[in-house]
Amino acid sequence: MSYQNILSEVKANILYITINRESKLNALNKQTLAELADVISFAAKTEEVRGVLLTGAGEKAFVAGADISEFSAYSTEQGEDLARSGQVNVFDAIENSTKPFVAAINGFALGGGLELAMACHIRVAADTAKMGLPEVTLGLIPGYGGTQRLTRLVGKGRAAELITTADMITAERAEKIGLINHVVPQTELIGKAEEILNKIKQRAPLAIAAAIRAVNAAVNEGVNGFEVEIDEFGKCFGTQDFKEGTGAFLEKRRADFKGR
Ligand code: COA
Repeated sequence: MSYQNILSEVKANILYITINRESKLNALNKQTLAELADVISFAAKTEEVRGVLLTGAGEKAFVAGADISEFSAYSTEQGEDLARSGQVNVFDAIENSTKPFVAAINGFALGGGLELAMACHIRVAADTAKMGLPEVTLGLIPGYGGTQRLTRLVGKGRAAELITTADMITAERAEKIGLINHVVPQTELIGKAEEILNKIKQRAPLAIAAAIRAVNAAVNEGVNGFEVEIDEFGKCFGTQDFKEGTGAFLEKRRADFKGR
């Protein structure tokens, strides 16, 4: 698939995805969502990719939300389909990806933009970034998992306030309430995200995948996360990476993981 609205490139085992509709503040239209779904599945099946850095083009916006011009005439059924297909193909696909996604929030992350960042495993923001879920100003609520992921990240009271007031918060405040992991000057944003991914990519890939599944299980009410952890822990013992990791430690050398 050739992409119109995103840039994607693998460099040194990191897949860089840039949402590239700067004139529309990188708003997520159908085409962009389809391209994202495609590149997310590429990341999952490409062994060379050990982690993903997701950002927006320009300095003004990460993503200013779903593209309002596309859904303003939708019916109830179309609205439900929009949320369901987006959640399954993009937002849940990111959260369930066994390749770690780091969102580098370079500006406005609003509505679907903040939901996209929240689907990622780790979030880093520029000190100029602003975040919020303003859907109620449009007569809507968040539809790409925002009510659930924001509540899990910052707690019910803070999520209820942010969603019902539609307030935008600064990166500094977002860090304070646990919505993002780090806030850095704009010029250091990509470097900080790379620093995190460069550490992760040296670790055992199958253990990273197992860790993501186990951490995700902690917020999945349908499953017993402790049981998932036991199962994933046990499976690690059957990997070559485990033998390499423990062997390297005992032989006092650096491990060379192959993801097998
Ligand atoms: N959907 C579609 N287009 C969008 C968009 C969105 N979510 N967000 C921004 N744009 C477009 C604008 O329509 C404008 O396009 P135009 O130049 O063709 O008119 C362009 O991006 C620039 O945005 P603009 O509003 O002129 O920039 P601003 O600096 O005045 O305001 C924001 C920036 C982010 C405050 C404002 O764009 C905004 O409120 N966007 C919508 C946020 C939102 O409600 N998101 C949730 C959607 S569910």
